[in-house]
Order: sequence, then C-alpha cells, then structure tokens
Amino acid sequence: MVTEPSVKVGLPNAYCVVGDPIAHSLSPKIHAWFAESEGQAFLYHKIRVAKGSLKSAIEEFMRVGGKGMNVTVPLKEEAYSISDVRSERAIAAGAANFLSFGDNGKITADNTDGYGLITDISRNLHLALSGKVICLLGAGGAARGVLAGIAAQSPSLLQLSNRTLSKAEDLSNLLPKSCPREIVPWGQMSTTQPDIIINATSLSLTGDLPKMNNSVFALTELVYDMVYSSNPTSFMKLASRQGAKNVSDGLGMLVEQAAESYRLWNGTLPRTDNITDRLRST
Ligand code: ATR
Repeated sequence: MVTEPSVKVGLPNAYCVVGDPIAHSLSPKIHAWFAESEGQAFLYHKIRVAKGSLKSAIEEFMRVGGKGMNVTVPLKEEAYSISDVRSERAIAAGAANFLSFGDNGKITADNTDGYGLITDISRNLHLALSGKVICLLGAGGAARGVLAGIAAQSPSLLQLSNRTLSKAEDLSNLLPKSCPREIVPWGQMSTTQPDIIINATSLSLTGDLPKMNNSVFALTELVYDMVYSSNPTSFMKLASRQGAKNVSDGLGMLVEQAAESYRLWNGTLPRTDNITDRLRST
C-alpha cells in the first residue's frame, strides 16, 4: 500500500478510494462536499494500491480503523473476488467499486457504477432510457459494470458493439432474457437508429475514436462518454460536430456513484445538485 504524501491514515471510521494511478482521483473532494452538506464527520483518503495487493491493503486499512473503500481501475475485479458478501449489482458486474468492512472482518462488495450512469442520464440530463434504443460501445469492465443497470431500465433494444466480437457476445449472454438485444459488429451500422449512444470503451483515455458511421450521431437524443475530463473528449467533439443534440462526459456518473456509496456507508443519500459545477470550476 502506498499512501499519497498528504494523507494521514490512522483515524477511526476512515474511508478511502484505492486504485493505480490514484493521484488524479476526485473522490476525496466529492465525499468531503457530501459530508459538509450532510453535517457529518467523514474521513476519506486516496491510496495507491498496485494490482495484486488489494487484500493486504484492506487488512492494513482495517487495522487503522478503515470502514470501507471505493475501488477503481485496475482493482474492481480483484475487489469482487476477495469479498465475502456480494450484492446482486456486484454479481451482475463481476466487479466491485464499493467495499464495506464489518466489525467481524467480513468484506461486503457492491457496484454503484450502473446506478451512477442511470441516475446521471435520467435525473441530471432528464432523459428516460425506458423504451429507447441504446447502443453500448465496448465490452470490458466498464461496460459490464453498467450493463445490468441499463437492462433494468427496459430499453426497447440494447445494441452491443465491441472490437472483439466474442466479448460483445459474452455481454449479451449476461443480459436477462427479457432484454431485447442486438450485437453490432465493430465499425458496422445497425439498421435501427440508436436514441442513446454510450461509450464504455477505453478509447477516450487516449483521445482515439471508435470506428463508426458518423451519420448516426445527428439523430440521437444523447451521446454519453463514460470517461470524464476537463475538456470534451474527442468522441464528444465528434458527436457535437455531427449534430448530436446532447453530449455528456461521465463526471455526473462519477458523482452519482459516489453519492450511492456515501448512502451505503452513512445511511443518507447526499444532494448532488451543484457538485459537478463545483468540480468543473476548481
Ligand atoms: P475498462 O475496465 O476501462 O472497460 P477493459 O476491460 O480493458 O477496460 O476494456 C476496454 C474496452 O475498450 C474494450 O471494450 C476494448 O475492446 P476489446 O474488447 O476489443 O479489447 C475497448 N478498446 C480498447 N482499445 C480499443 C481500440 N483501439 N479500438 C477499439 N476498442 C478498443
């Protein structure tokens, strides 16, 4: 476990976010604002933990009073596999971004990413997913983390497209039978126009673009890139240029998944209204 230089772990009821890299994480700021608005004392750190070291990092954190962790890349699958109790959301995702530690030492895992995405789209962007044609790009951990949440919204069709076709098929097999789905080969176009396109590939992290026919964007209600950055991603810029009505990055999703984590630990769901604006202006 490597503690960021300014962090003082060792206080009771401490929480943290772990990942590698972690220096860029906005989670401590978000949780500090939640605690402030809720009038609760809540300590939240960021700790770099290398892949393969999560179990020992948890044991060390529990020893100094740690009660729970958010988990980010590349540790979400590891968090899931070492947990003792798993929520349905974590099981559906095969990964956990939330852990809480019981007094008996048991580790409970949950996944709040799907909640974060759906809440951001439906409550913050005011768009329903129910009855819509939704195109999900990517079939890695990020896509799997939100798959069940999207399916639970009853889209009229869920289109799955991924460079490696077999991984899109694997995702399709995880969907409930009641969810209509279509596998769209990478770079090809479905005959059904999507209402909402969600980019869950890791392409935006490098500024690369998914292979797709650009005429698809103009008729969408929303193009959503699950990564967040201070400036619009290349994918968002492309969608805007092509006439997409609404384009969003994943900052709202980050805030909403954090709010759900805060609720699971503290019992109250904090208000999130102005948090994305505050993050963008700092
Ligand atoms: P994450 O946890 O961010 O989802 P991941 O599990 O490694 O990371 O998944 C990355 C996703 O981005 C995958 O869907 C991957 O496609 P493959 O399944 O074919 O690997 C996609 N991706 C990454 N680089 C890509 C590229 N150059 N072109 C197309 N898709 C890419």
